Amino acid sequence: MTQQAEIQNAHKLKKHIIWQDGRTPDPCVIVLFGATGDLAQRKILPTLAHLIHDHPQPEKICIVAFARRPLDDDAWRSMVLTSLDKYMPADDKLDDAGKTAFAQHLFYCQSNFDDSEGYKRLGQFLAKLDQEQGTSGNRLFYLATPPDTDLEIIAHMGEAGLAKPMPADANGKQHWVRLITEKPFGHDLESAQKLNQEIARVFHEGQVFRIDHYMGKETVQNIIAFRFANGIFEPLWNQKYIDHVQIVVAESLGIESRAEYYETAGAIKDIVQNHVMQILSLIAMESPAEYSADDIRDEKVKVLRAIRPLTPEQVAKQTVRGQYTAGMQDGKPVVGYKDEKGVSPTSTTETYVALKLFIENWRWADVPFYIRTGKHLPVRSTEVTIQFKRVPHQLYTPSEITSLTPNTLILRIQPDEGISLKIGAKVPGASNQLTTIDLAASYNSAFDIELPDAYERLIADCIIGDSTLFIRRDEIECSWRIIDSITSAWKQMGSETVYPYAAGTWGPREAETLITEDGRKWLNPA
Ligand code: BG6
Repeated sequence: MTQQAEIQNAHKLKKHIIWQDGRTPDPCVIVLFGATGDLAQRKILPTLAHLIHDHPQPEKICIVAFARRPLDDDAWRSMVLTSLDKYMPADDKLDDAGKTAFAQHLFYCQSNFDDSEGYKRLGQFLAKLDQEQGTSGNRLFYLATPPDTDLEIIAHMGEAGLAKPMPADANGKQHWVRLITEKPFGHDLESAQKLNQEIARVFHEGQVFRIDHYMGKETVQNIIAFRFANGIFEPLWNQKYIDHVQIVVAESLGIESRAEYYETAGAIKDIVQNHVMQILSLIAMESPAEYSADDIRDEKVKVLRAIRPLTPEQVAKQTVRGQYTAGMQDGKPVVGYKDEKGVSPTSTTETYVALKLFIENWRWADVPFYIRTGKHLPVRSTEVTIQFKRVPHQLYTPSEITSLTPNTLILRIQPDEGISLKIGAKVPGASNQLTTIDLAASYNSAFDIELPDAYERLIADCIIGDSTLFIRRDEIECSWRIIDSITSAWKQMGSETVYPYAAGTWGPREAETLITEDGRKWLNPA
């Protein structure tokens, strides 16, 4: 081995463990709706290939594509293998033996989504797989479909009896049927409620796994551990000691090829309604009675309920929308949003949003939560910053503390996952000069273990039936209630309130005022 290779090997992170005692998967079939679509090809199938290859299960897992295109098993397998070559990360690619082995898990069942006969055929096909492959009647239906098809698919699944688990076997072993739905989950409160009602007509809530991939991120889950496994932070985690909280989800990319979807969503529905609300509820929730799916979700939903819908006046004062114009990103020129392929030249869709929310309960009374997200910002970074109040009495003179900033705790969700705490310290020397220093920890150096991909963790959790990291019906609806209050006020506000910002900058100037008028400033990720 060369010295270079030895160094690289020494720094290679250890594999994480997915299956372990109490977390072993049953045999099952994963039925993928929308299997030939972008999400399935780019993300879900590569994740399944990684999961099956790198974390082998003792039990059989089959993957059935339920899709429109006239393909057979062989054609489908070769389509998937081409996608794996293209989309699996370079350090994760399967060799030929791995690909051949993965292909054996893949099957194809052709049907249109509106064809009730197709669902009956699917039922028969799954029964055949149970017999031939030993998948034991356990099914995970994964809807990676355009949102407007979900209602129809669910209704057909109900009619065909696909949602009902088979009776227990002779040894009393129960079978299960689960449903994963992807975002967007509805486009407003009404549509989300309608979808929830239709799902509830066919499945019971315990069968339903609504994905928000941010919940699969290790650093998002670590918010719970950080808060409730350490005695030193929780006593300070309230309005008495915290001045404000900032959550930033900055993306350096634009909308890429997703104009059709993005035009209907904008930053508020694409990121705030789901990912930001999830992070915020973990940051703000009370300690759950137990580490259990329902106890945690009960606490999260209480946070969302304590954020009152905003009045139009509050929306005007507490939110800022922006849209990127042409600019420079990573040294290269990029086009403005209105010039992106598929975007209307008169579009008023926001690619940036900044807002201030309050959680109206005892813990958080009067503590603003400042939120920012946008496309084509200078860096890709998701961070939560907790800024603590200044000391009640300053011992040092103003000239001694010019470089002192308030204590802040930063939870870096991505990239360079880690935590940093900024504290004041004396500069060595005879004078009493103070400055701010950083106590920092990074996941990579602390653990030496690779972080699981968010999708890998979530799919594995669904296979073992753990819904802790999935979004419950009431959470989704509470979140839409807040978002609807903002979007309906925006509709009345006119397009001149969608402020331009040049791609590659930190958003429109107007967003500065949102925070500076409170005597605070945005803390941009490095
Ligand atoms: C998705 C959004 O949910 O999250 C995308 O639809 C966004 O627009 C993506 O780019 C961001 O995810 P991540 O994991 O890269 O932060």
